[in-house]
Amino acid sequence: MIGSEFTFASLTPADLQEELLDSFIRTQHVHRVWRMNEGQKTLVTASFTDDWDQQTKRDIVASDWRICLAGGGMVHCALHNGRIVAFATLLRELFGSRKQYADLLQLHVSSEVRHKGLGRTLFMKCAEQAGIWGARKLYISSHSAEETYSFYRAMGCVPAEELHLHHVRMEPFDLQLEYDL
Ligand SMILES: CC(C)(COP(=O)(O)OP(=O)(O)OC[C@H]1O[C@@H](n2cnc3c(N)ncnc32)[C@H](O)[C@@H]1OP(=O)(O)O)[C@@H](O)C(=O)NCCC(=O)NCCS
Repeated sequence: MIGSEFTFASLTPADLQEELLDSFIRTQHVHRVWRMNEGQKTLVTASFTDDWDQQTKRDIVASDWRICLAGGGMVHCALHNGRIVAFATLLRELFGSRKQYADLLQLHVSSEVRHKGLGRTLFMKCAEQAGIWGARKLYISSHSAEETYSFYRAMGCVPAEELHLHHVRMEPFDLQLEYDL
């Protein structure tokens, strides 16, 4: 159950102010990641922290979000006191051999509000919207961190039947997943 302190909104191009994500905290302390080892998916120790500097956050708004919305896609956000604390970016163009996939490009929850159901809520909103667009599945290039994969597994995601080669090339350690609508 999401607390009433959060509201949800889909952005329009007119909403895209460069500072929208300035206070968003991407920080993710990773301890174990999934890696392919002799054809088997194996959990291995790897300690690092993923984070975004201010420029990266402004680039997401100016580039990823602008392109997504210009193409008819959706950027759906959770807000707290007018501040974006979680967002999902769903591209409009369907792909795959039967145009069955909609690309869930980004899904991030600010570190101070994780584990409150926001990720699940945004994921389900994207699933609903993708179905309206005629997709049969969501496609996710998932971070290989143990907890990120656990989240997508909890959502019901499984290994993708078809690979999106752009994502595979951009993030070779990511897990390519799909979710059946
Ligand atoms: C992964 C992420 C989007 C999940 O969002 P969230 O709001 O924290 O997750 P929710 O509260 O909606 O959790 C839904 C379910 O996912 C699972 N889950 C979530 N976080 C988990 C974790 N750290 N470890 C194991 N399972 C987890 C649980 O089953 C949970 O259900 P429950 O609350 O009934 O136990 C968020 O933690 C995040 O932004 N992490 C860092 C960035 C990232 O990994 N983004 C995805 C890149 S592809």
